[in-house]
Amino acid sequence: MTAINNPAQKLSDLGVSQPEQIAPLFAEVRARFDSESAAAHDEGSWKQFRDAWLGRKSGVLTLITDNWLKPASPELKRVVGQELNQLRARVESEIASRRAAIESGADQAALARARIDLSLPGVVRPIGSHHLIRQVLQQIEDIFVSIGFSVVEGPEIETPYYNFEALNIPEFHPVRDDMDTFYLDLPKGAPNPLLLRTHTSPMQIRTMEKRQPPVRVIVPGKVYRRDNPDATHSFMFHQVEGLAVDTDITFCDFTGTIEYFVKQFFGAGVKARFRPSYFPFTEPSVEFDVTCVFCGGSGTSAGGGTCSKCKGAGWIELFGAGMVDPAVYGFVNYDPKKVSGFAFGMGIDRLAMLKYGIDDIQVFFQNDVRFLRQFP
Ligand code: DAH
Repeated sequence: MTAINNPAQKLSDLGVSQPEQIAPLFAEVRARFDSESAAAHDEGSWKQFRDAWLGRKSGVLTLITDNWLKPASPELKRVVGQELNQLRARVESEIASRRAAIESGADQAALARARIDLSLPGVVRPIGSHHLIRQVLQQIEDIFVSIGFSVVEGPEIETPYYNFEALNIPEFHPVRDDMDTFYLDLPKGAPNPLLLRTHTSPMQIRTMEKRQPPVRVIVPGKVYRRDNPDATHSFMFHQVEGLAVDTDITFCDFTGTIEYFVKQFFGAGVKARFRPSYFPFTEPSVEFDVTCVFCGGSGTSAGGGTCSKCKGAGWIELFGAGMVDPAVYGFVNYDPKKVSGFAFGMGIDRLAMLKYGIDDIQVFFQNDVRFLRQFP
């Protein structure tokens, strides 16, 4: 018979009849208690351990009380009672301290899990940069703002009136062919056709409708044309429109302003020239050229051959401009006898390509980070 089941039996069944037999019996029970206590190292096993010893119905202490103490003869009962009291004190204090140990251990582990280690390196998030188009637009804006222009923006969806008619381009004017246009599919019965603006020029009209001279604005924005994509064409690209109208603006103010811009933007060594051209909303109209930024205007490439960018001309076409056609003033109720002014419309993408030596407009829209990273 092992000590494990002893308390389930009566002392008489265990062959105990003398008081001196009691102490060794309790020593066995204590040994069993000590080994079980050492094994209770988490909450689950601690609960089992506690119930095995202190359970009211069949815990070891209850069994000892019922089987050993209660039926004992008077001379045994005193010794068993003493031993049992000592055992109970030991069991209760040990079980309480095991619990405290387990709980503080669990707390430690939870703390360790929750602790933030401030010595670890942080998460490095890649920092983006402005797209080159945005950067070039910013440069253009800075130059014009510094000489008194303000920046306005307008709708990308326009009416034919603003995109064409009020710019002196009537319905059957041939220049509309140059601007193959995206018209919107509108519900049947919609009052007016709408289109994606083919240029930023409609904002000339919208601005003059709202403001009286003097007007000095630039208008950056996206424009759309039904062009097939290639190295210099895209169905969407960017323009900056410019408009200056006042009572005494001359052709000299016009060319002086453009030359100032060109030198600020490309560098003092670059020369500008203008050639006659045609736009329905300017008269006279011109095309501005700059000395080729790739060959320095020599027409000869570094290797000695013909410069492939300007095809040997030494000049590169930059953008269209002109003095505002008096007919346009009629659409905005300005008096053409009192006011004069100039306008220009430049392609931001084209200026960026020239300034940074980019030979394919498509790279602006592909968002390849290998390209974008070159312009941090
Ligand atoms: N709107 C013209 C285009 O997209 C560019 C242009 C030319 C704008 C002459 C102007 C201008 O304001 O005066 O082709």
